Amino acid sequence: MSNIVAIGIQWGDEGKGKIVDLLAPEMDIVARFQGGPNAGHTLVIGDQKTVLNHIPSGILHADTLSLIGNGTVVDPFRLVEEMDMLLDAGVPVYDRLRISDRCQLILPYHRALDAAREAAKGEGKIGTTGRGIGPCYEDKTARRGIRLTDLNAEDLDARLEENLRYVNFMLTEFLHAGPVKRAEVDKALDLARERLLPLAADVPLILHERIKAGARVLFEGAQGSMLDVDHGTYPFVTSSNTVAGAALAGLGVGPGQVDKVLGICKAYTTRVGAGPFPTELYNAEGMDDASGRHMAEKGQEFGATTGRPRRTGWFDAVVVQHAVRINGVTDLAITKLDVLDGLDEVKLCVAYERGGQQLVSIPADCRALDECTPVYETLPGWSETTFGATSLDQLPANAVALLRRIEEVCECPVTMLSTGPDRDHICHL
Ligand code: IMP
Repeated sequence: MSNIVAIGIQWGDEGKGKIVDLLAPEMDIVARFQGGPNAGHTLVIGDQKTVLNHIPSGILHADTLSLIGNGTVVDPFRLVEEMDMLLDAGVPVYDRLRISDRCQLILPYHRALDAAREAAKGEGKIGTTGRGIGPCYEDKTARRGIRLTDLNAEDLDARLEENLRYVNFMLTEFLHAGPVKRAEVDKALDLARERLLPLAADVPLILHERIKAGARVLFEGAQGSMLDVDHGTYPFVTSSNTVAGAALAGLGVGPGQVDKVLGICKAYTTRVGAGPFPTELYNAEGMDDASGRHMAEKGQEFGATTGRPRRTGWFDAVVVQHAVRINGVTDLAITKLDVLDGLDEVKLCVAYERGGQQLVSIPADCRALDECTPVYETLPGWSETTFGATSLDQLPANAVALLRRIEEVCECPVTMLSTGPDRDHICHL
């Protein structure tokens, strides 16, 4: 087993950063394949907390090459900020990072459109991160996007003028927002030319040659399967494919290159932004429940990118089973088990009920999913601490029983268990 796809299999924020950071020292390459600065991977090293938006979590390791693939969308301002933060901390970013020359650029008009669309939707808004992700992927599919390689294109000026004419018409005529000025766009392009172009590379070629020479690759996903534009809770999703299959298209490698799919999920469930969440217990809008509040407070459930409070709820095995199927998950990594310490009982949602019928998979229609109520199995909780445990025999029997039940119901082995924020707080099973 050499190459691993590591992905979130709930609604994002599963603790992927820590797991990828743990696996990275064994890998030669860590490669991001989708998403952009909507992601926020928090790494804790000693007492230092680092949030990465674009750059793969492997960047902190001396012998690991970090790649940003063609499937991602890159905001020059934010990526350069991230690079500078790492450079200031002594990380030799220019030696360790390469960016696909086919990456789409997030430009100021994408952010303006994202904000104006959300404002226009009012109550029905998606609750996006506001980073311009959706409009940038729209431009990619509509074949009017600007890629890193296009910074040198002869027709760049004409394409930008046409894009701005279209965007400013949308902004002013339909969305009642202000127009975006060409000078703002040029600032982003100049920065990309100066700081990102020197890192531009043919990523599929690098991967092909390095894999041929025996390199191990970790394909790093962002967001989670339930935010996938096809398989998630559409339209309350992000605008890219977040599933394991996207690793191939988003980097330019074939299916034969993937040996293992690691599905990362919390021992409970969280979500930020709007959309269905069948096992929801607690949110900032007034839904209250003692166990849900316990998860939010003890788990410090605030978005790494936006700081928004996350909605919390019980572990949803219907969601995880769905994720195991659509991603071909071979191994589960469960994070934040310690957050459940001190609860009298813990629940697993094993099916949904809707209109007197039991469902064992997720309906495609969001409204139908909204009408589903969870069917729970209740297991005894534990009062002992699991914080920092490094092996199964340090865990209370009831915590082990929960893990075993998750494995049974989700038909997938748990091979990693995270019991705290630090690198050492981990059990390999
Ligand atoms: P967008 O990706 O900014 O367009 O946001 C679309 C939806 O995905 C919103 O509900 C966001 O809260 C959610 N989302 C996007 N990125 C992340 C992430 O990294 N973690 C959790 N939720 C995310």
